[in-house]
Amino acid sequence: MNREDFPLLKQDIIYFDNSATSLKPKCVIDKIADYYTNYSANAHRGDYDLSFKVDQEYEQTRTLVKDFLNAKSLEEIIFTSGTTESLNMIAHGFFEDLLEPNDEILLTTSEHASNVLPWFRLANKLGVKINYIPLDDNYYVTLDNLKKVVTPQTKVISLAGITNVIGDKRPIKEITEYAHAHNIFVVVDAAQMIPHMRVDVSDLDVDFLAFSGHKICGPTGVGVLYGKKELLEHLEPTNLGGGMNESFDSPDQVYLKPLPTRLEAGTPNIAGVIGLGEAIKYIESIGYTKINDQVHNLRKYLISKLLPIKYIDIINLESDSGIIAFNVSNIFSQDIAYYLNKYNICVRAGNHCAKILKNAVGVTNTVRISLYFYNTYEEIDNLVELLSDYDKIVKEMI
Ligand code: ALA
Repeated sequence: MNREDFPLLKQDIIYFDNSATSLKPKCVIDKIADYYTNYSANAHRGDYDLSFKVDQEYEQTRTLVKDFLNAKSLEEIIFTSGTTESLNMIAHGFFEDLLEPNDEILLTTSEHASNVLPWFRLANKLGVKINYIPLDDNYYVTLDNLKKVVTPQTKVISLAGITNVIGDKRPIKEITEYAHAHNIFVVVDAAQMIPHMRVDVSDLDVDFLAFSGHKICGPTGVGVLYGKKELLEHLEPTNLGGGMNESFDSPDQVYLKPLPTRLEAGTPNIAGVIGLGEAIKYIESIGYTKINDQVHNLRKYLISKLLPIKYIDIINLESDSGIIAFNVSNIFSQDIAYYLNKYNICVRAGNHCAKILKNAVGVTNTVRISLYFYNTYEEIDNLVELLSDYDKIVKEMI
C-alpha cells in the first residue's frame, strides 16, 4: 500500500524494521528540502518575511499536533528531540521536585530504556522505589494486575501505550481512570503507539505523553512532549537558553516566557518540526483504519507462515501492532539478522533496548520483524522462504 510514496523502496530492499524507525515519504523529504532550500531562517527571532514564514510553518505544526492529539491548547504541545528527551524532561523537570523518599513509581518490565532509565536515576537520587505491574501470560498489562501493585505510596505510573518487543496495547484509559481516583499521575510513552492508533489525550486523560516523529514517517531528531497545561506550568525547564526567556539581568532576575516557548530553549529543530507536520498530514491522508487493517492482515499472514516451522519459536503470538518477535532454535538472533541481511532484508535482533523484559519472557534476545503499511505479502513470502531452510541458515549465517 502506498509504496510509490517511499523513494527508498525503489531499492532492492525489504524493510522490516519499522519499530526502530519508519521510512520517509517523498512529501516529507520534499518539505524538509524546501525549508533548507527556500526559507532556512531561524524561528521566533527575525523581523523579516523569511523568518515570518518559518514561524508560520513551525507554529502550524503545533496546531496540527494539537488537533492530531486532541489536546486542549497549543501550550500543551512542546517540541523536543524525541520521545527520549520528552520522558527525561517529564521525569527530571516535573517529578524530581515532586517525589519524596519512599514514594513509588510503577513501570512494567517491557518498557524501553527511555521509560526506565530516567526513573532509575530518580530512584538513585531521591530514594524513591521502582515497582512493576506484573504482566499476564501473553505479556499484557491488565487493570487487575495493576490494582495488585498500587499502594498508597504510588505516585506515578509510567508505561508505553504499545510496547516495542511484544507490541501489546495497554488499557491506558482504564489505567488513567483508576490512577486518578488514587491521586496517581499517568505518563505514556507513545513512541510505538502513535504509528498504529489514534491517540486522543483528552479522552485518555493522561497527564503526560511523549512521541517521536520518525516512527510516523517523519524526520528523526524531533518529537513531542504533551502535558496538561496546569502540570506543564510546573515543569522546570531542563534546558535554559535563548528563545525561552523574556529577560535576564542577574541570577535573581531571570524571567521566562510562557508555555510552550518556556520549554523550547535554543534554536529548535525547525526542519524536523516542519517535516513532522507534513508526516502527520500524510498519515491522516491515509487514515489509521487503512493503516491498521493492512498491518493486521500482514501480521496474521506472517504468523500463519511461521507457525508451521517447527524450529521457530514466536514470543508474541498476541500483539496489537505489526511486531513479531521470534527465535530460531539454537541460533543467536543476530546471526539470523546477518543471514537475512545477505538477502537485503532488514530486521532488528537483540534485546531492542527492553533489557528487563527478559525477566518476563525468559529470553534475552529475539529477532524482531516490525511491519508497516507499505510492506507486502510478497516480501513476507521472501522472508519465510529464507527462514524455511534450517540447513541453509546454518551454512550461510556468518
Ligand atoms: N525504540 C526503537 C526500537 O524499538 C529504536 O527499535
